[in-house]
Amino acid sequence: MDTILTIGSHSSLQILHGAKKEGFKTIQITPENRVKFYSQFPFIDKVIGYRNEDEAVNYINDYSDNGILIPHGSLVEYIGSERVKKISTKIFGNRNLFEWEANQRKKMSLLKMSNIPTPMDFESPEDVDRMVIVKLPGAKGGKGYFVAKNKSEVKEGLNKVLSAKLIKSIDEVIIQEYVIGVPMYFQFFYSPILNRLEITGIDIRYETNVDGLRRLPFNLNIEPTFVVVGNLPAVARESLLPKVFDYGMSFVNTIKERVPPGMIGPFCLESVVKDSGEIAVFEFSGRIVAGTNLYINGSPYSWLYWDEPMSVGRRIGREIKLALNENRLNEVLT
Ligand SMILES: Nc1ncnc2c1ncn2[C@@H]1O[C@H](COP(=O)(O)OP(=O)(O)O)[C@@H](O)[C@H]1O
Ligand SMILES: [Mg+2]
Repeated sequence: MDTILTIGSHSSLQILHGAKKEGFKTIQITPENRVKFYSQFPFIDKVIGYRNEDEAVNYINDYSDNGILIPHGSLVEYIGSERVKKISTKIFGNRNLFEWEANQRKKMSLLKMSNIPTPMDFESPEDVDRMVIVKLPGAKGGKGYFVAKNKSEVKEGLNKVLSAKLIKSIDEVIIQEYVIGVPMYFQFFYSPILNRLEITGIDIRYETNVDGLRRLPFNLNIEPTFVVVGNLPAVARESLLPKVFDYGMSFVNTIKERVPPGMIGPFCLESVVKDSGEIAVFEFSGRIVAGTNLYINGSPYSWLYWDEPMSVGRRIGREIKLALNENRLNEVLT
């Protein structure tokens, strides 16, 4: 196993940059129209363009003997969840988590089982008694999500997404209390090899148009949307960190029990911090998040563990290297 591959999008530059630093061969598999873009980077040994998703899977499977695929937030989105099951090349991380993440309710249940505070949720539009955010299935950067101030707005909004055929039934959505506070996305790395949890960084998503609306001093009566287009760096008050760390550890323990073989590598707890200091976690990501792209040269937290520039991409390469050296590769691949 000497080759690391990924799909050209999301956090692939950071992943391959880090893999090269740790001594691996690097392969980029990308939609054809991006080959030129990715070919300019010297740390990518080979860029392979695909014309369709089936071709992408074939290219990935060409490396089933010596390659490791690093999944990121766009893997399922680009390849499709059914096709991802056909990937025979080993992936870094726990592939059994994909299925849990595909279903909004199952996803939230893992946070609840971890005793991590989450926003209140409502089974039926009829139960809604406060401002809520309604979430459609699939991690599409918040596309189609809407905010509603009361139950009649929820019903109105649901009728719209139903008639736009964005969903087939309202069972696919979750209706969640809209939490007022500031967003913070806590990034972690769980290392099975070192048997420890690291906080790798914190980011804030820059989302259109919700973040743009506040630039104007008057109320336009425009509905907010939550399409992520970038990320801003953040550090938290240090007194928040022990609590955040406990939530991360508790999540790792839940995944170990419920989704064997457990958490491997990067994940993120997406949160709102309230003025009371309480933290509500409204979503998690079971793999590398694009907010880690901020820290290509290490974050204010990664330096505390490593004392050397350590992006999450490089941290993945390091974990694989440590596993190889100890003959424990099977503990970090699925
Ligand atoms: N319960 C909530 N309270 C306040 N804002 C929320 C809540 N849930 C989501 N958001 C906002 O909506 C965005 C998208 O929601 P999220 O659940 O992360 O969906 P996805 O990442 O799948 O698009 C978040 O980044 C955040 O800005
Ligand atoms: Mg999210």
